[in-house]
Amino acid sequence: MSAHARGRRVSAPAIAARKGKEPIVALTSYHAHTARLADAHVDLLLVGDSVGMVLYGHGSTLPVTLEMMIVHGKVVAAATEHALVVVDMPFGSYEESPAQAFRNAARIMKETGCGAVKLEGGARMAETIAFLTARGIPVMAHVGLTPQSVNALGGFFVQGRKQEHWAAIEADAAAVAGAGAFCVVVEALAEPLAARITESCPIPTIGIGASAACDGQILVMEDMLGLNPAPPKFVKTYAALGQAIEGAIETYAEEVRHRAFPGPEHVYGMKKE
Ligand code: KIV
Repeated sequence: MSAHARGRRVSAPAIAARKGKEPIVALTSYHAHTARLADAHVDLLLVGDSVGMVLYGHGSTLPVTLEMMIVHGKVVAAATEHALVVVDMPFGSYEESPAQAFRNAARIMKETGCGAVKLEGGARMAETIAFLTARGIPVMAHVGLTPQSVNALGGFFVQGRKQEHWAAIEADAAAVAGAGAFCVVVEALAEPLAARITESCPIPTIGIGASAACDGQILVMEDMLGLNPAPPKFVKTYAALGQAIEGAIETYAEEVRHRAFPGPEHVYGMKKE
């Protein structure tokens, strides 16, 4: 287990400087207790709009609002002191114009205390990324499978299975790097394509269901902890917390039903007369 020494918080430029060097460790987090547990072990915590699916039970990330992202961003930023906290811009909060994106990104940064925002889209978002970065807002980009476009894509599918689609995805990664993004999430990409983008792209690639060759990896924390009964196929689970939680609740319920629930004497060492 490696833990970082307490000290200055990781910055967006520090993540950018890791291109081709020590792999970047990233996880999602939406709440204070998981953020606190992860903080010393990761470089970056993403308050992803996956919160809508994971915590709120929606079928996609589309219903997520700016207010939800701000609430969760604030608690994660307040609970941590080491990792760079990045907050996702939800669907509809940035696509209209660079000015709309700046207004909402500035609100996220002011109200949460995060160090950067993330938005989805490649070449089509390059102008917006340049606008934000020129005004002091570090941007993490996101290409390949972009879940906010699930309706246009027709589902959550691996992107770039056919080689004829590679050029457009490579151009997306090059465009966000050229626009000033400090790193780029490459999600659900055919492995050789993700490796090729990592080779050619001047900013770090953070893979999710992409390639071990990426400059870093990110997973949804609940998936890797075994809390999602149907995680994406590519996810390795590192714990079986779903089972552990259910087992603990079962034991508690049994104890209560059989009046075996420990009373205050258990806590204070008091003896029953
Ligand atoms: O919303 C999210 O959690 C994400 C990650 C899966 C990269 O975008």
